[in-house]
Amino acid sequence: MGEVITVTSGKGGVGKSTLSANLAVGLAQTGKKVVAVDFDIGLRNLDMILGLENRIVYDVVDVMEGRCNLSQALINDKRAKNLYFLPASQTSDKNVLDREKVAKLLEELKKEFDIILLDSPAGIESGFEHSIFMADRAIIVSTPDVSAVRDADRVIGIIDAKSEKAKMGEEVQKHVVINRIKQEMVDKGNMLSVEDVLSILALPLIGIVPEDETIITSTNEGEPVYYKEKSPASQAYKNIARRVLGEEVPFMDITEKKGFLKRIFG
Ligand SMILES: Nc1ncnc2c1ncn2[C@@H]1O[C@H](COP(=O)(O)OP(=O)(O)O)[C@@H](O)[C@H]1O
Ligand SMILES: [Mg+2]
Repeated sequence: MGEVITVTSGKGGVGKSTLSANLAVGLAQTGKKVVAVDFDIGLRNLDMILGLENRIVYDVVDVMEGRCNLSQALINDKRAKNLYFLPASQTSDKNVLDREKVAKLLEELKKEFDIILLDSPAGIESGFEHSIFMADRAIIVSTPDVSAVRDADRVIGIIDAKSEKAKMGEEVQKHVVINRIKQEMVDKGNMLSVEDVLSILALPLIGIVPEDETIITSTNEGEPVYYKEKSPASQAYKNIARRVLGEEVPFMDITEKKGFLKRIFG
């Protein structure tokens, strides 16, 4: 049975979809059969980052409503052969997801795939619940700024409250990805450091992604930055994929020199 991994955050715009796309490619390249599902109903971003928007015929809501079957909606990536993609619906009705139908879909996907990667809306949005209740694991993405970290902290509390696994007395594994770290700003003490973020969230770190302009050009070109192997972000995503599969990979060295929290709070 496949594992459901939900990529989530407190705040929007922190890099969930970018992580979901690149992690999906990275996991698929290790030979795992992966499906990336865009659960951010109404927004539809993951398709563009994966460069698959021109191949969409049906979406996740069409499958759940029985307008097509699963195999008609799944898009197989041409470059990463083990990667499949299920697009979000563009409906403006955010309440279109129904708990039982989501459960049925995910059970079906678990039979076919090793990893089901759910790109979720931010924690405060409706639809968040549907992306989390079946999760075996959650990856919480935050940027290193106070408001994003505070919202991430709130979402971490909600995950266990909404999760089926937690209701059964099991733990939903949770990890943190810190995105858009700028070394120079950390050095000057103008940005929360990795240590600062982890001391607030108290969860294990699974990745650090630096601020990287290559992400923007890649998204515009419709090709995940993962394929630009020399870019720092690509390297970071590759490492996250390996860690998700249980490998121990050393973290990028972003040591804090002054310490933002220490500087403002003494
Ligand atoms: N490490 C990064 N460096 C530079 N830009 C980034 C980085 N991560 C994300 N972005 C940009 O930030 C924006 C939001 O990212 P996205 O993945 O869509 O966030 P979310 O899914 O959380 O709303 C996008 O324009 C994306 O290209
Ligand atoms: Mg998104």
